[in-house]
Amino acid sequence: MLFRSSQVHRSTLVGPEGNVIGVDMTPETLAKATAGAAEAGATNVEFREGLAEKLSVDDGWADMVISNGVINLCPDKQAAFREIYRVLKPGGKMQIGDIIVQTAVPPAAKEDIDLWTG
Ligand SMILES: C[S@@+](CC[C@H](N)C(=O)[O-])C[C@H]1O[C@@H](n2cnc3c(N)ncnc32)[C@H](O)[C@@H]1O
Repeated sequence: MLFRSSQVHRSTLVGPEGNVIGVDMTPETLAKATAGAAEAGATNVEFREGLAEKLSVDDGWADMVISNGVINLCPDKQAAFREIYRVLKPGGKMQIGDIIVQTAVPPAAKEDIDLWTG
């Protein structure tokens, strides 16, 4: 998700003139997010289908990029981080909630699909 705001309020993440763009590659997730935004009465949110590695967002558009559970699924993580850097304004912030591994994953574990799909 990408946030742009001219004024960040304490009570809401983006101010009255702020905008949010939600990006995901699957129609199912976008449909769920769209329903959630409608339920919340959010009118300043737009959803776009696309890849984290190639965001359909202008350079320097966002004050903040938030990603939850996506980067670990990106085959090209460096491209995803390059895109975050590209769309952020200078001094913008990113917040990432994700899974990291701090030790090497053994080849047998990498090939065991059940370990990756939960
Ligand atoms: C664990 S879900 C998290 C969904 C959402 N961010 C949330 O917080 O509820 C992971 C999501 O990552 C999306 N995803 C995986 N790889 C992606 C990529 N390369 N670009 C965009 N979305 C991706 C999947 O479609 C899925 O909706």
